[in-house]
Amino acid sequence: MTRMNKQKNHIILAIESSCDESAAAVIKAPLRPGRLSVLSDIISSQIEIHKKYGGVVPEIAAREHVLSILPVINEALEKAKIKPAQLTAIAVTKGPGLITSLAAGAETARALAFAWDKPLIEVNHIAGHIYSNFINPAEPIKFPALILTVSGGHTILLVMSASGKIKIIGETRDDAAGEAYDKAAKMMELGYPGGPIISRFAAQYADRINKGTAAEKSADLDFPRPMLNSPDFDFSFSGLKTSLLYHLQKDKSWRQRIPEYCYHYQQAIIETLIAKTLKAAKKFRARTVLLSGGVSANTELRQQLADKIALTMPGVGFLVPERRYSTDNAVMIGVAAVHQTWQGKKATDFRRLRSDASLQLK
Ligand code: KG4
Ligand code: ZN
Repeated sequence: MTRMNKQKNHIILAIESSCDESAAAVIKAPLRPGRLSVLSDIISSQIEIHKKYGGVVPEIAAREHVLSILPVINEALEKAKIKPAQLTAIAVTKGPGLITSLAAGAETARALAFAWDKPLIEVNHIAGHIYSNFINPAEPIKFPALILTVSGGHTILLVMSASGKIKIIGETRDDAAGEAYDKAAKMMELGYPGGPIISRFAAQYADRINKGTAAEKSADLDFPRPMLNSPDFDFSFSGLKTSLLYHLQKDKSWRQRIPEYCYHYQQAIIETLIAKTLKAAKKFRARTVLLSGGVSANTELRQQLADKIALTMPGVGFLVPERRYSTDNAVMIGVAAVHQTWQGKKATDFRRLRSDASLQLK
């Protein structure tokens, strides 16, 4: 029997370990839909370790998770001033992600659920990103909501109804938007992860355009906007990456033009994402547009999408999470778990928890 009696609030310990961040958070929420509180939010990032290799090395990631996950959980509980006995449930990322990384979090959650006699809530990592916009949003979310989730592994457009039901309307057919950033940075030998680095260079070039010392249009950097005019809501970013490769091969002076390359490359990604999002928002009569996932940390994407919505769809709301909740974190997993509970989804027996590297969103 799990202890669920006489509780006044949900107090959930959430664990996230799907890629290269070991994260834990404690979330307090009323039993029925209402305001929730983030009691703690701890992230131990492995970026410094993986940087050396130009990307995440799964074996190293798993080993690091094993070392850091318990200290991260302890810190989350201490910071929240919550004893294990006060927890009402443990939430953990089931997938998608790197299987060895996922397993480190899941096995820990399983052991703690058994030892502390707590129900276990499995959360889809993408659902976590979606719910990162539900952490006490700056404006009420109105439904149907259109959600664009752009991360290192996924680029998904979906529609959510007031009951929390989702319908995927578009996805990437090859690389994810974050992958397009990461691979481009690798090609230009700029480091990992590519998103923040490329966006910094792009901002330098945008500054030059604003000061009038650089032209907005480039004579030779004509990156494609893949599938911009296709009748569906799917994306494709692998052609963009190949186009960059061809440009780099042809241009002997590309090393002297990195900010310019980054600016135009990023603009191709952003314009494609925005065009499809606006088209979908109109078609599905979205009342709020939500942007989430690691790429939503991007200042230009946030700004340009906000501006376009304000200009072309007045009255439609726009939300994007605080930057710390754009990239991987455990708060979003806890918040998704709270919503699942509010929606009446049952907890999982700890014996039945299975990580799933390619878990689908339902
Ligand atoms: O959501 P996330 O932390 O992990 C996954 O679930 O994949 O997303 C990581 C991705 C990486 O591809 C990274 O380059 C990208 O998000 N990213 C950014 C920015 N910050 C992180 N992309 C563009 N601009 C950023 N500022
Ligand atoms: Zn993620």
